[in-house]
Amino acid sequence: MSKVPDIVTPPPGPRSRALLEERNEYVPPGVYLVQPVSIAESRDAVVKDVDGNVYIDFTSGIGVVSLGHCRQEIVETICEQAGRLIHSCIHVANYEPYLKLARRLTEITPGGFKKRAIMLNSGAEAVENAVKIVRQHTGRPGIISFENSFHGRTYMAMTLTGKWDPYKVGFGPFVPGVYMTPFAYCYRCPFHLEYPGCGLVCVHHIEKSILKTQVPPGEVAAIIAEPVQGEGGFIDPPPDYFKEIKKICDDHGIYLIIDEIQTGFGRTGKMWAIEHYGVEPDLVTMAKAIASGLPLSAVVARDELMKDVYPGSLGGTYGGNPIACATALKVIEIIEREKIVERAASLGRKLRKRLDELKERYEVIGDVRGKGPMLAMEFVKDRGTKEPYPEAASKVLKGALAEGLLTLKAGLYGNCVRLHPPLTIDDELLEKGLTILEDAIKKIR
Ligand SMILES: Cc1ncc(COP(=O)(O)O)c(C=O)c1O
Repeated sequence: MSKVPDIVTPPPGPRSRALLEERNEYVPPGVYLVQPVSIAESRDAVVKDVDGNVYIDFTSGIGVVSLGHCRQEIVETICEQAGRLIHSCIHVANYEPYLKLARRLTEITPGGFKKRAIMLNSGAEAVENAVKIVRQHTGRPGIISFENSFHGRTYMAMTLTGKWDPYKVGFGPFVPGVYMTPFAYCYRCPFHLEYPGCGLVCVHHIEKSILKTQVPPGEVAAIIAEPVQGEGGFIDPPPDYFKEIKKICDDHGIYLIIDEIQTGFGRTGKMWAIEHYGVEPDLVTMAKAIASGLPLSAVVARDELMKDVYPGSLGGTYGGNPIACATALKVIEIIEREKIVERAASLGRKLRKRLDELKERYEVIGDVRGKGPMLAMEFVKDRGTKEPYPEAASKVLKGALAEGLLTLKAGLYGNCVRLHPPLTIDDELLEKGLTILEDAIKKIR
């Protein structure tokens, strides 16, 4: 892929369209699709479709291939492990990659206390297991989650998700014991206040309202939160937000589950996004970037929570597959060796500067936010009324695709364009991608 980007036929080209037809015939529309093209191959921050179009990738497969697509070292690790042991099942017999990874994850997550780790297959499964662990340990059924959150598509993860359409449409009844509270979506404050004058009323709402009107604290096992809401539109709460949440947890014997599935492994310019907030969670869920595209997730939690989990009550046939675990170990090695977290922080500074400039130039951008390189722009019809402008976000995605850039949407109103480039993207491609992005924004009417 020598020329990047390289649009040889307007996307979606004929082969992409044929595959789209096949998809529409055999795959349910419930499996959503952002871009109408079919990918044939990818490398680093570049993706090629089946019609020969070459794109810059600002999606990383939704924040998964943070080290770039098909990195040689990762491919070699996968092949080596596949030649040795593809599957054994951790319930049948031990194997080293699982145990080594469990140890490494307890070492690299926040908190100097003793921890343990369990490996699963997907983000949603990690969330399910975190909830099982706190419920069994505390004997309390309640879980507090946040509006505008996303935790996955299985029943508990979906119940915890704070967005109705499309995730919950027609799927009720949901799992009992879940209570929703507003998140610190400061651009659209649910209490119509401004930080810091608001005094973090959204946090105090938990004690003053949820724990008084919906569920007593003695029946709440955990609060679960994304440190930066991902699908919700890259919403990063104010600096003292999680310290205040943790205080409530500590006052009532409630555990704090931090969902780092989208934010972990350097995505926000720190290894874990919660590090921006100086808080040590009791449990961390992680997935996506953990294994560079192989299906793997994990829950890392305090030893006190993990050591007495009822034998046989956790796990699964595939959780912690040897190839995925060996790959995750390699991912962690590369992150440390190549100082990927520092690189992400520097990428974040460059991106922030450019997106802030775009906001100055284009009225349709109401807000630019996020942490490190995990940044989004929220599109509005009017900066005063903040009326969401989802059509603008769609136009940006379409316009960018036509010129050779893959991007993603997000947000409660579908009006955010979020950037998820590989953290290893080089400056030249980044600049080219940003120019395409600006050109697409320019064309919005
Ligand atoms: C914060 C968060 N939690 C959970 C999930 C669910 O992960 P998965 O799609 O792997 O089940 C996601 C996926 O986007 C996520 O961003």
